Amino acid sequence: MNTPRFRDRERFDARDKVRGATQYAADIQFRKPLFAMTVPSRIAKGRVTALSTEAAMRVPGVVRVLTHDDFPAPPPPPKGKDGPPPPPPTLEQKIAYRGQPVALVVAETLEAAIEGAEAIHPSYADEPFSSRMDSAGAKREVTEEITAGDAAKALAGAATIVEGFYESPTQHHNPIELLATTAVWANGRLEIYECSQGVNVTRGAVAGALRLDPAIIDARSSSVGGGFGQKGLAQRQTALIARAAILTRRPVKLVSPRGQIFHVATYRPNSRHRILLGANASGKMVAARYHAEHEQSRVGQFSPSEYHEATIRMYGIENYHGSAANIRLDRQAPGYMRAPHPQASCFAFDSAVDELAYELDRDPVEFRLANDTRVDPKTGRPLSSRFLNECLIEGARRFGWSARTPAPGSMTLSDGTQVGWGVAAGCYPSMMPPAIATLRIGADGSTRFASSGHEMGQGIRTAIAAVLMDGLDIDAEKLEIVIGDTTAAPQHMTAGSWGTAGVVPVAGKAVERMHVAVAELLAGRTAAGNLHQQLAAVRRPFLQIEVSQLGTGQDQESLAQLRQGGFVAAGPEYPNFTTMSYIAHFVEVRIEPRTRRIRMPRAVSIADCGRVISPRTAASQIRGGVVWAFSAALREGTEIDRRYGGYLNNDLADYVVAVNADIGDIGDIDVGFIDQPDPLANAAGLKGLGEVAMVGASPAIANAIFHATGKRLRELPIRIEHLL
Ligand code: MOS
Repeated sequence: MNTPRFRDRERFDARDKVRGATQYAADIQFRKPLFAMTVPSRIAKGRVTALSTEAAMRVPGVVRVLTHDDFPAPPPPPKGKDGPPPPPPTLEQKIAYRGQPVALVVAETLEAAIEGAEAIHPSYADEPFSSRMDSAGAKREVTEEITAGDAAKALAGAATIVEGFYESPTQHHNPIELLATTAVWANGRLEIYECSQGVNVTRGAVAGALRLDPAIIDARSSSVGGGFGQKGLAQRQTALIARAAILTRRPVKLVSPRGQIFHVATYRPNSRHRILLGANASGKMVAARYHAEHEQSRVGQFSPSEYHEATIRMYGIENYHGSAANIRLDRQAPGYMRAPHPQASCFAFDSAVDELAYELDRDPVEFRLANDTRVDPKTGRPLSSRFLNECLIEGARRFGWSARTPAPGSMTLSDGTQVGWGVAAGCYPSMMPPAIATLRIGADGSTRFASSGHEMGQGIRTAIAAVLMDGLDIDAEKLEIVIGDTTAAPQHMTAGSWGTAGVVPVAGKAVERMHVAVAELLAGRTAAGNLHQQLAAVRRPFLQIEVSQLGTGQDQESLAQLRQGGFVAAGPEYPNFTTMSYIAHFVEVRIEPRTRRIRMPRAVSIADCGRVISPRTAASQIRGGVVWAFSAALREGTEIDRRYGGYLNNDLADYVVAVNADIGDIGDIDVGFIDQPDPLANAAGLKGLGEVAMVGASPAIANAIFHATGKRLRELPIRIEHLL
């Protein structure tokens, strides 16, 4: 696939979305549906000893109450593995966290379901529990180390060392779309409609939990109102709703209330980061010793070792020793949340880099430029492309960095407003799953492209359409892009910033194959008009081709695994090279002299994501990432209830997120791209963008606050009280 620059196009689904025509999971209507509500556990640890459903069944409209008796017993733990596996997401008597569902009420109306759920008061045998990393009973579990060179030796010989202890809080996903699931059981098949980034995962999880053949399950997720990792795995509710549909033989729907979502869905765990960073006499960074640990459930598998995946590759630091630990306690499992590890680890690491630059009396941009690398320090192999320095240089130019005075507190305005200019960088692994696609062009003007992928608001259909519309003379009005549907094509999870890399190369291949198929069909004849008209001219109703694309370095086995619903993303370590995406963020903060309110009037973010496929949605991704990084740095923090477990601020009134007034106009987040195709990553020359967009913006803000005030704040969120 040749990759010339793509032009700007409007979003493929913009009109439908602004008209409210796009159907999200909860919008899809079914005949005679039942409505469900879960009953959350009031204890944090222990067992349900008795659960009477009588009061709930007396509520008019309640049809059924599901309890643990309605589910198969958990399978025995696999032999020879460390520790117990996570329990299946069904109803159980054993309680592992406050808010765990203990019953499901199904009723003719939503009101009856809620009233029925409130009428259930189980008896519990409770046990002592640990709610936070410093609670008694929290258990430390060391995980895999990631190393390069000899950090201890290099630090011993370093001329300058900085040491810092950084902390990122528990933070919860709060997309506007609540977690919604509808299940339909008919003619021996189970259909699931759920907001999901991986309908194959949904299918597999339900099949496993309910002991069903995955082949009888179809799962669909056509449009999601915000994914960001919250929807990568099946939801806690999915198998419950599926079971309810099977038992009642009616469509059953649950839209989980936000307060419950805080207690059952994945979240960004509280994490702590101790970093020692050393430079040699000429001011080159030579060594990092970095320990990261985070809160974890008793059986959760979200690995703290991954905090090092980005930081070890951020700069040319030859000696790196990364260690990590889980702190196991009694809450639901943490998990993926946009830029899951690098959001916290690059906050810590690029804050430390900034501290070292100040310690060495170096300009923070120039210092980063001087610590570039051409190889992956983790593997010693080449990087397929790296334009981080170009990002830094272009960002500094657009921001006007040269007008900055370096001393902290030196840019105060006449009214006492403190102004700070900060910079930081981010990187994120660039990965790629295999894909299978079918493309059908009809003589009636229609085009249908079906492949793997999920639309979560990032604009994946716009990227696919860019390739199809650039490559084929077809009618844009009748282009249908079918993704997020197990009946349309094998579905890989869309996460880890590999959505575009998963579907754009296969779309490019489909375009090429279609040209060949059309040429074969015409067999030397010439037909006038676009492809639809050409088909009509030779009386061919439609032409359909199927293509597949392996991830770079993968073999046919990966395609077989994709067909079976397996997880097969390649990278960022490919056979002979490593591929990372990069970004540089420049921000201005203003701190009001009396209230100490922090605002961010402007930011400049320049990304290296290889070839940009969809300029408009790519720029949106970065704006959204910068806004969220602001929110993560200055606003968001979940309050954990030490008395009962669970969370205190579990609504949008008390869980504070960034609002428009916090950040200048959205246009004041100035976004740019290097837009150089990566020669090795894949045929399209693209690298991932969704997550790197956010990485590094939080430390840029903290670094700007240091520049404004002289206060080095190492714990997020940074709030007014820290600046008094
Ligand atoms: Mo992303 S946090 O891998 O959806």
